[in-house]
Amino acid sequence: MSLLSQSLLIRGGRIVTAADDYLADVFVEGERISLIGADLDVSAERTIDASGRYLLPGCIDPHTHLDMPFGGTVTIDDFESGQGSAACGGTTCHVDFCIQGKGQTFAEALGAWHAKANGKAIIDYGFHIAVTDVADEERLEELATLPEQGITSYKLFMAYKNVLQVDDETLFRAMEVAAASGALVMVHAENGDAIDVLVREALARGDIAPIHHALTRPPELEGEATNRAIQLARIAGSPLYVVHVTCREAVEPIRRARERGWNVWGETCTQYFFRSIDDLAQPGFEGAKYVYSPPARDSSNHDVLWDAVRTDALSAISTDHCAFLWDGQKTLGQDDFTKIPNGGPGLEDRLKMIHHFGVREGRISLNRMVDLLATQPAKLFGLYPRKGTIAVGADADLVVFDPQRTQTLSAATHHSKCDYNLYEGTEVVGAPEHVLLRGTVLVEDGELVAAPGTGRFVRRARFGEPLETGAAVSS
Ligand code: URP
Ligand code: ZN
Ligand code: ZN
Repeated sequence: MSLLSQSLLIRGGRIVTAADDYLADVFVEGERISLIGADLDVSAERTIDASGRYLLPGCIDPHTHLDMPFGGTVTIDDFESGQGSAACGGTTCHVDFCIQGKGQTFAEALGAWHAKANGKAIIDYGFHIAVTDVADEERLEELATLPEQGITSYKLFMAYKNVLQVDDETLFRAMEVAAASGALVMVHAENGDAIDVLVREALARGDIAPIHHALTRPPELEGEATNRAIQLARIAGSPLYVVHVTCREAVEPIRRARERGWNVWGETCTQYFFRSIDDLAQPGFEGAKYVYSPPARDSSNHDVLWDAVRTDALSAISTDHCAFLWDGQKTLGQDDFTKIPNGGPGLEDRLKMIHHFGVREGRISLNRMVDLLATQPAKLFGLYPRKGTIAVGADADLVVFDPQRTQTLSAATHHSKCDYNLYEGTEVVGAPEHVLLRGTVLVEDGELVAAPGTGRFVRRARFGEPLETGAAVSS
């Protein structure tokens, strides 16, 4: 049952945005925040006592894969289970990848993705397009029209040869279209051609175990592709966002580009701070749980990534939630690591893991956590200032976060359908207590109470443009 709220007062919380940290009350009327101040003298239909709690903007996950066909199967979380899981973790909006099938128009691909979400959505969502085929001019022309529909970012894959990979000409032409039409280009930066050679050599040697997934995708090939994409974007004049950055070899070119003032941003994902290449070597095919691309790296990269997010070499942390069951989906690759579907779960765990190991353990500030999980994703993906902060006029997407609440992360208790958790058994201190989407309570005292259908598609603004706080969210 969802608890619709016409007016709601959140009393005495510690409001934390990317910039501020102060005690105040927040008054919500309908879907928006209408007043913020000390000891507000208003009457509301419901009051939530947030004393001793942080009040955070709803987190935004800019990188998810729900109900996506991939690797010979389909990701296990659909929009209902994936978004329910997201809500429990304090995420109130995400941008999912709509995959263009070979030969498909973008309109066809988008039609299919809208159908997947319709009636199921619990949180708000947008779509990026995963561009796989712009062989004819007509498709490039269609690409240029996507921002008119609120699709203002697209990803191109420099890896997954013969599946999703595009060549440099396609990448470059898409960048030119983005530069002219106000879109943000995202890249999966790994050199797919070289990986393909290494994979064939490994299989010829009989190296079939999950660890060879990581050994055939070395960090240098991520660094090379990252640098190539940066240089191509510079020539094309398009902004560039490098997704799921894992290692020093890729952080360094992004850091250099940013120091020079180029329009380049990078994201990493929760799992890359905590998992390492050693996890893929676990016995009994357990290693398959950690098969995603780019792969988990040598653990010396954990500090590289914490440093990168602290210093804004990397500007966002996503989950790349792309969940497959271990039993029945990951096991497709029992005799050949190339048949293990690539991806892992995590949509529910990001805020708790980053708060505990990032903020509590002193690696990043509370403000920076909000910036990385909410404000920067909102700004980069055309959702700001409607979302990604706490301000008068913004959507009342709010997380009442109890910094003392303890939880043990586990597949037994998470809301994803995935049969494993990347952080199984990890104890965290700090968790969402209540989560609100546009004033509607989705999570009440840690329990999911939202009804499918509460979430809406968001037409995002063009790159660099604001999403008006007065404008309606379309459905
Ligand atoms: O292994 C991964 N990351 N699966 C999802 C697809 C992608 O490359 O983001
Ligand atoms: Zn990718
Ligand atoms: Zn992904």
